[in-house]
Amino acid sequence: MESSEDLEVRALVQGSHRGPKDLVLTTDRRRPTPGAGEYLIRVGAAGVNFADVMQTHGTYRGGPRAPYVAGFEAAGEIVGVGPDVKDPLPVGTHVIGAGRGAFAQYMTMPAAGALRVPSGWSDAQALGLVLNWATALAALKPLGEVKAGEVVLVHAAAGGVGQAAVRLARHYGARVIATASPAKHDTVKALGADEVVDGRRPDLAAEITRLTGGVDVVLESVGQATFEASLSVAKPFTGRVVVFGAASGDATLTTADLVFTHHAQVKGLHIGALAAAAPALYQSLLVEIEALIAQGVYPPGNPHVHPLEEGPTVLQDLETGQTQGKHALDPWR
Ligand SMILES: NC(=O)c1ccc[n+]([C@@H]2O[C@H](COP(=O)([O-])OP(=O)(O)OC[C@H]3O[C@@H](n4cnc5c(N)ncnc54)[C@H](OP(=O)(O)O)[C@@H]3O)[C@@H](O)[C@H]2O)c1
Repeated sequence: MESSEDLEVRALVQGSHRGPKDLVLTTDRRRPTPGAGEYLIRVGAAGVNFADVMQTHGTYRGGPRAPYVAGFEAAGEIVGVGPDVKDPLPVGTHVIGAGRGAFAQYMTMPAAGALRVPSGWSDAQALGLVLNWATALAALKPLGEVKAGEVVLVHAAAGGVGQAAVRLARHYGARVIATASPAKHDTVKALGADEVVDGRRPDLAAEITRLTGGVDVVLESVGQATFEASLSVAKPFTGRVVVFGAASGDATLTTADLVFTHHAQVKGLHIGALAAAAPALYQSLLVEIEALIAQGVYPPGNPHVHPLEEGPTVLQDLETGQTQGKHALDPWR
């Protein structure tokens, strides 16, 4: 017989689009039922991402509308399988993936995107695989086309995606210029970045140009505050600027800017859209990630794990740039 613990689940529910302050812990949500093509997952650890912050403001395009159970990245155990799942993994398998309502004890997850937690890793250690690492890898390799000896600029380098990007860029033989808040510089240097500068300094573009003479690949995720600098430090015509986020707000780029001023190659990236629109390319990223894990380039993650009720504070800290590395929520604590 199922216990009440299994039927009524703890979850963080976002009640408005006024930001993380309206994220509330509830204890009486019904456990979800897996739909067609879905697994039911007992969440072991849920990943916190900048997109969670955007969703709480209703600014994440295609995101859920309030009220909704927050969170979308989790690792956990398959405890149920919905109809029409092709070649399902056995119940009891631990997987990492994305779906709706991850900040809860149970969630449903499309089976097609769920990957086995790497052998010997805990649920929490696997967080970041499909979001931070796949995004950083896509930005650097198929889009950024990084080559050994090139210069890569990584913004927000102490963050979840940023740390993965610094490690990967170094692994591929690039010289890495990173931006981060001054309090985070030691973290970024320890990852192997060659130069770390404060991303908020007013002469950012001049300083990066002075250090590099021009950048081959820019990983642009900050938006408004750095976009102009990112475009101007990229080498004309050969430099690639991969845009995958806007933590400081949206930036604009006009056709005239591209014709007369910024002659960089600008490429857009959304990892979910890439997985859906270019499945073979996405699959090749997963194969590469497997190899990176085997080589020890991608070590088990070491996220800061918080009890579920601290979710609103963690999201506020992420929003205001107070965090470093990956943060996670344990819905059973
Ligand atoms: N397109 C995709 O598929 C995809 C996938 C994953 C993530 N992303 C994007 O990648 C970026 C990083 O995501 P993440 O989850 O790993 O977050 P994160 O990097 O851990 O956190 C965001 C960081 O951005 C920096 N930042 C600079 N200006 C900021 C400002 N005005 N307000 C807030 N933060 C500012 C802060 O670092 P400093 O204090 O060091 O400046 C902050 O810690 C986000 O833009 C996210 O939306 C995109």
